[in-house]
Amino acid sequence: MSAPLRTRLKFLADTDRPLVYVPSKGGGDETDHLGNFRSRVVEVHDARTSLRSPSLDAEGFLLRLHATRVGDFYDDAELHSVYHDEVGELVGHLTGAHKVEVFDDTRRAASLDTQRERGIREPAGIVHNDYTARSGIRRLRDHFAGDPEALDPLLERRFAIINVWRSIAGPVVDHPLVLCDATTVRAQDLVAMERRAEERTGELQVALFHPAQRWYYYPLMQPDEVLVFKTFDSATDGRTRFTVHSSCQDPSAPDDAPTRESIETRCFVFF
Ligand code: OGA
Ligand code: FE
Repeated sequence: MSAPLRTRLKFLADTDRPLVYVPSKGGGDETDHLGNFRSRVVEVHDARTSLRSPSLDAEGFLLRLHATRVGDFYDDAELHSVYHDEVGELVGHLTGAHKVEVFDDTRRAASLDTQRERGIREPAGIVHNDYTARSGIRRLRDHFAGDPEALDPLLERRFAIINVWRSIAGPVVDHPLVLCDATTVRAQDLVAMERRAEERTGELQVALFHPAQRWYYYPLMQPDEVLVFKTFDSATDGRTRFTVHSSCQDPSAPDDAPTRESIETRCFVFF
C-alpha cells in the first residue's frame, strides 16, 4: 500500500463572516472566496489500495475504466456529439437511472499558461461540494425553466447530480482531485455558501475540518479512467447526498511533472 499523501487543504475556519464564492471565469483569473478559510495538513489516502469497492451511495465516489472516442476535449461540438452520450451511458449503468441528462462541462488546468491559452479555470482551491439541498433542486428548475411540463414530474421523483471527472492530458501527476469519504463527514461539518456567478446566483457547501474525516485520491489517474462522484441527491433516506472534494499539491510530484488538465461533466440522474 502506498504511503498517504500529506498535503494542505483549505477548510472553512468559522462562520463569523458572510460566505460568498465568486467563481473564476477562466483564462487566468482566480476564484474569490469571502469568509474565513484556513489551510490544514491532512493525510490523503490511496483509494486504489485502501478502499475495496466504494459506492456513490456510501463514500460518494468511485473510479471506473472508461475509454472514450473523443479526440479533442476542447471541441464543444465533439463533447455534444460524442462525449455526452458516453457519459450518459456510463452513469445510467452505474446508477440504474432511467434517464441521464448532461448539463455542464468544466475544463480546468493547473498551469496558468494553459488556463490563459485555453480560457479555462484553475483547480479547486477550497474544500467544497457543488450544491446544497436547496441549490440542487434550484439547478434542475433553472435547467428546465423553459419547459415546465417536463419539470413537474421530475420534481416528484428522486434525482441526483453526478460529476464525471477525467484527465484530458495524460496521467495526473500533480494536483489530483481529492475527495472525502462521505460516511466520515457529519452534517454539522457542512455550511452553505452563496455562489455568485455572472450567469446565476446559487449555493454550494464548504466544510469545517473534523479529525474523523477521511480523505482519498486515485494516484496517477489515467486518461481512460473517470472519477464519478455525487454532489446532490434528493433522497433523504440516509444514503449519501453530498461529497466534499478539492484539489491539492502532491509534495512528491517532481518539479517538471506534466501539469494537470481535466474536464468534469455534470449530469442530472433521474430515478
Ligand atoms: C468538481 C471540482 C475541482 C478540480 O469537479 O466539481 O470541484 O480541481 N473539481 O478539478
Ligand atoms: Fe466541485
